[in-house]
Amino acid sequence: MTKLTSQEIIDLSKEYTFFSWSVQGQVNPIPVGKAEGIYFWDTDGKRYLDFSSQLMNTNIGHQHPKVVKAIQEQAAQICFVHPGNTTEVRALLGKKLAEVTPGNLKKTFFALGGAEANENAIKIARFYTGRNKILARYRSYHGATHGSIALTGDYRRLAVEPTMPGGVHFLDPFCYRCPFGQKIESCKRECIAHLEEVIKYEGPDKIAAIIMEGVVGSNGLIVPPDDYWPRVREICDKHGILLISDEVMSGWGRTGKWFAVDNWGVTPDIITTAKGITSGYAPLGAVIVTDKIAQFFDDKYLYAGLTYNGHALSCAAALATIEVYEDDKLIENAATLGNYLGECLEDIKLRHVSVGDVRYIGLFTAIELVTNRRTKDVFAPSVMAEVGKELRRNGLFTFIMANNMGSIIFIVPPLCITKEQLDEGLAIIENTLEITDGQSQR
Ligand SMILES: Cc1ncc(COP(=O)(O)O)c(C=O)c1O
Repeated sequence: MTKLTSQEIIDLSKEYTFFSWSVQGQVNPIPVGKAEGIYFWDTDGKRYLDFSSQLMNTNIGHQHPKVVKAIQEQAAQICFVHPGNTTEVRALLGKKLAEVTPGNLKKTFFALGGAEANENAIKIARFYTGRNKILARYRSYHGATHGSIALTGDYRRLAVEPTMPGGVHFLDPFCYRCPFGQKIESCKRECIAHLEEVIKYEGPDKIAAIIMEGVVGSNGLIVPPDDYWPRVREICDKHGILLISDEVMSGWGRTGKWFAVDNWGVTPDIITTAKGITSGYAPLGAVIVTDKIAQFFDDKYLYAGLTYNGHALSCAAALATIEVYEDDKLIENAATLGNYLGECLEDIKLRHVSVGDVRYIGLFTAIELVTNRRTKDVFAPSVMAEVGKELRRNGLFTFIMANNMGSIIFIVPPLCITKEQLDEGLAIIENTLEITDGQSQR
């Protein structure tokens, strides 16, 4: 194989391939050569601390030998079978998913990523209920395909409308920027009353499902109040509406539990997931439904299909990944270190005037920056770009939100991280906050 220089890799990639969610002339990809655990290296040997688990999916860390071996062994045995046939890894993974998901969630439809999982959840919910509408929140992302983007609440939907009909949005339980003007001390859960009102106007008997991210990820890391999920569950039960938890980002130990809904003891009717299911080692999405929904299709045609449904390499990767979560006690580590990280973030907030809010659950955390703590104004995208550049220069890679909805640094490291490694990354972030502190009003 030809050996390209770093610059050649960048130039050819930019000339011949598109990059997601960006003005193509402005992308600045790192040519990645190797990775291990919580670090990756560019092709010139510069090391980066991966504080976003690449795109919030490499939960077990990079290049775990057990998962690499499982993929190699599966590839040597058989890479692919007809989606109407099956394999040992598909059988075992289906059973394992029923075990790790809450309550009576039992049967899985396999897809290749989060958007496809949500596409198929929409179909299943509509077939099962005979209803059309799907309610979703504004501060949400559910994927880039036309159905999933119709449920997405953020700016990415606006650019591609008109999308799938039937998506209806409601406001979020976002306590730092409460859309109902409430303060946490005096709040009467106006967000719940609002949802009930939306349901009333949209017609409860027209609504197939409510879909919510277990914990909102890319729209600002929003952790709901403790009674929020249980109360939405009650509302759904009252009206025969299915509850879908999109655990694409918040699942797989990220919040210190297998799935975010486990934090509140809620069993949704459907969980959609992807990302951490294989930790990104191979593409896989999953729609896991209750035994009751599964039975509905025993004598009815399921109008859903993909050539790569149950792909053997992906199923092998997922089985091995789940074993790693268990054997390496990564979910326990996320819970324990999450508590420590939460304390560190609270301290950072005390020390830096530009920090408006810190939000955390397990190792799913974020620092929201504001130009003024009273008005909570966001920073210009150019300032956040400077922050991102400085972090990278100092060897830290992470996801940054920089738009009119927020200026946010995400801290979402692999769950195998140690306390020392967390400290190392937090120190880099604190130094970088000088940029925003200097432009924030005291
Ligand atoms: C909550 C959520 N749902 C769905 C998706 C879409 O997943 P994918 O990019 O694998 O299609 C994402 C991706 O970031 C996500 O965060």
